[in-house]
Amino acid sequence: MKFILSPSILSADFTHLGEDIRQVKAAGAQYLHYDVMDGAFVPSISFGMPVLRSVRKFTDLVLDVHLMIEKPERYVDEFADCGADMLTIHYEACEDLQGTLRRIREKGMKCGVALKPGTSNAVLSDVLDQVDMILLMTVEPGFGGQSYLPASTEKIRELRRMVEERGLNVDIEVDGGIKKENLSEVLGAGANVIVAGSAIFAGDIEQNVKDFQVIMDGRK
Ligand code: DX5
Ligand code: ZN
Repeated sequence: MKFILSPSILSADFTHLGEDIRQVKAAGAQYLHYDVMDGAFVPSISFGMPVLRSVRKFTDLVLDVHLMIEKPERYVDEFADCGADMLTIHYEACEDLQGTLRRIREKGMKCGVALKPGTSNAVLSDVLDQVDMILLMTVEPGFGGQSYLPASTEKIRELRRMVEERGLNVDIEVDGGIKKENLSEVLGAGANVIVAGSAIFAGDIEQNVKDFQVIMDGRK
């Protein structure tokens, strides 16, 4: 299985975003996690298309865009045009999940479905064979810097079992409260794409990425 680190720029310093991105790339991160919040699906508002366009011009990292917005189907084409490589939409926010996933693929992006902590894996049974990735929120979506919800570990394990039982090749991304201290726990449960914001963009960014990679390499 491939193990991938996706640093979340929600926790970057936006006065020198380019420099922060340069550092995570130099240290070996493969993805960049980009959290879009609309103040409706989640209480907070983050950033949207113009910033994504600038980031796309600046880096060739895989842009892993996590839409925490109502009716994400409205913006699929625009996010493709801004340079997203992967587009993940929330099960709870989307009226036509299958149609939206199809549109994401038609636009040449990889597609993912995200679940809030309280949403059961069971809702995925109809779409699991149509996605590249499932994103399990391991905190309530909306803010960086929260604590990992311990019940998530069993949910990751259950989802990995579902994926394996069906013989699928679906990535499991975990997002929220992931630190060096609980990284082994989520990897052991079956997560293979790791989002981390506050644990990466505080202190020595390059060293933080390297510390994560050492733990992830131990799993290969
Ligand atoms: C939260 C976002 C996360 C956030 C994670 O709603 O989806 O991607 O940036 O931040 P940390 O790693 O600090 O919990
Ligand atoms: Zn996210």
